[in-house]
Amino acid sequence: MSDTTTSIKHVVSPLARQTLLDSELTRPVAGVRPIRLLPWLQVVKIGGRSIMDRGADAILPVVKEIRELLPEHRLLILTGAGIRARHLYGVGLDLGLPVGSLAPLAASEAGQNGHILASLLAPDGVSYVEHPTIANQLAIHLAAARAVVGSAFPPYHHHEFPGSRIPPHRADAGAFLLADALGAAGLTIVEDVDGICTTDPNGPDGETAELLREVSAADLARFAGTLPVDRSLPEIMANARHLEHVQIVNGLVPGRLTAALRGEHVGTIVHTGIRTGAQPA
Ligand SMILES: Nc1ncnc2c1ncn2[C@@H]1O[C@H](COP(=O)(O)OP(=O)(O)OP(=O)(O)O)[C@@H](O)[C@H]1O
Ligand SMILES: [Mg+2]
Repeated sequence: MSDTTTSIKHVVSPLARQTLLDSELTRPVAGVRPIRLLPWLQVVKIGGRSIMDRGADAILPVVKEIRELLPEHRLLILTGAGIRARHLYGVGLDLGLPVGSLAPLAASEAGQNGHILASLLAPDGVSYVEHPTIANQLAIHLAAARAVVGSAFPPYHHHEFPGSRIPPHRADAGAFLLADALGAAGLTIVEDVDGICTTDPNGPDGETAELLREVSAADLARFAGTLPVDRSLPEIMANARHLEHVQIVNGLVPGRLTAALRGEHVGTIVHTGIRTGAQPA
């Protein structure tokens, strides 16, 4: 065997002699903050149920607002699944389908909403892109256009965690995972309510609902009532690597999304568990 072959076999790696299970050993190598891939990117999640399912009355004003934002921001717009996914869960659960079968079906509904939104923004150069394109070619797409649209659902699909019969990682979780992995400048979640309230403003105790202007992800994870975002979102936010907060705004009120992207506090700000010091391995 030649020397070259021998040296190739002995690859030098700071992790070569260590178990990856011992965070004390991996921290010096893996504990550094990752780079921001797209630090100028603004990610916007558009609610499936709260915006898309309302049809033209809700969608067209949001499209107009996004169109006016394009000269100011480069956007990754991600859509939620909405009512069709809820119907699908109902039928699928009745038939006994496992969570890993329901997740990709619901994700396809989020994609459909994305296609609808992208069609309306097509005259502005906006198109729908699939997840592999978001993962590998987002930069070139956003060099050619000011925004692209994708599905907010994370592609766990058949690998969805089996804790609950309804997929726990839905559009809000997916939007956050993408935004944080890309090192985006921000994530804004667009709903049909002013933000997270002490109780569902559209529920039986709605008149007692008060807006939480600011809340930590840790407090939200302990929140006993219902939420307008995925339950898994605050848990994921606890391990954020880049995003310091997420803002939830009312997309039915013209100007709220614009203000949020300009850094104004117009909804509920949820703070992540990010620390500016050393990162956990
Ligand atoms: N604590 C709460 N504060 C505010 N809204 C709440 C709360 N609990 C429940 N809600 C309800 O959540 C609704 C939004 O529903 P949901 O989050 O399922 O829609 P969506 O985000 O558009 O759906 P999708 O996940 O398909 O994108 C609001 O209209 C509101 O009635
Ligand atoms: Mg929601």
